[in-house]
Amino acid sequence: MELSQHFWENVKHHIKSGQRIAELYHGEKSDILKGLSKIVGENGIIYGIDELNPFKKDRNMKKLQKIPNIQLIKALMPPIPKQATNLDATIIREFIWTYPLPFNGTESPEIYRAIDSSIKQGGHLILHLNQTEQKSERDGHQTYQKTIIKQLPNFQKIYDNEDLLIYRKEN
Ligand SMILES: C[S@@+](CC[C@H](N)C(=O)[O-])C[C@H]1O[C@@H](n2cnc3c(N)ncnc32)[C@H](O)[C@@H]1O
Repeated sequence: MELSQHFWENVKHHIKSGQRIAELYHGEKSDILKGLSKIVGENGIIYGIDELNPFKKDRNMKKLQKIPNIQLIKALMPPIPKQATNLDATIIREFIWTYPLPFNGTESPEIYRAIDSSIKQGGHLILHLNQTEQKSERDGHQTYQKTIIKQLPNFQKIYDNEDLLIYRKEN
């Protein structure tokens, strides 16, 4: 699914030049990583972290490896690799289809602890929802929001519209 204008407008509102950002569980999609690298510029850094290593065979991922401010890391999480600390923001796309599965109560508290400690105070957690997720989130289920309240109590919801849920780490 193509990322919406709404997504990028809001991401640009929270992410600035020179920042340290991670996209977790990106799979073979390169568009968020590439877009973020333009926003943070040469003084910033983007970490793409996933347990798979599609970087050799996938043409988009091969191109990404040549961008100096993107670092692709093959890692099974938790833990979050130690390079990716003191982050200004973390983005996760289609979280509900990714681990940790938040919809059946089996989510692993460890990954949330790792997400919490890798983001600095005042930093953001940005969750991108596909159309199925948007419907499920906004028809009363609030799966994501309940999960974040339970697992990431330091994070305050600051934006909730269309394909985005944005949280800020308060303490
Ligand atoms: C549904 S897929 C891709 C989701 C991607 N964000 C998208 O929108 O296409 C989930 C991804 O999460 C990665 N993944 C799942 N569990 C993981 C774990 N424990 N550690 C690291 N990566 C994991 C998989 O390798 C896969 O690329």
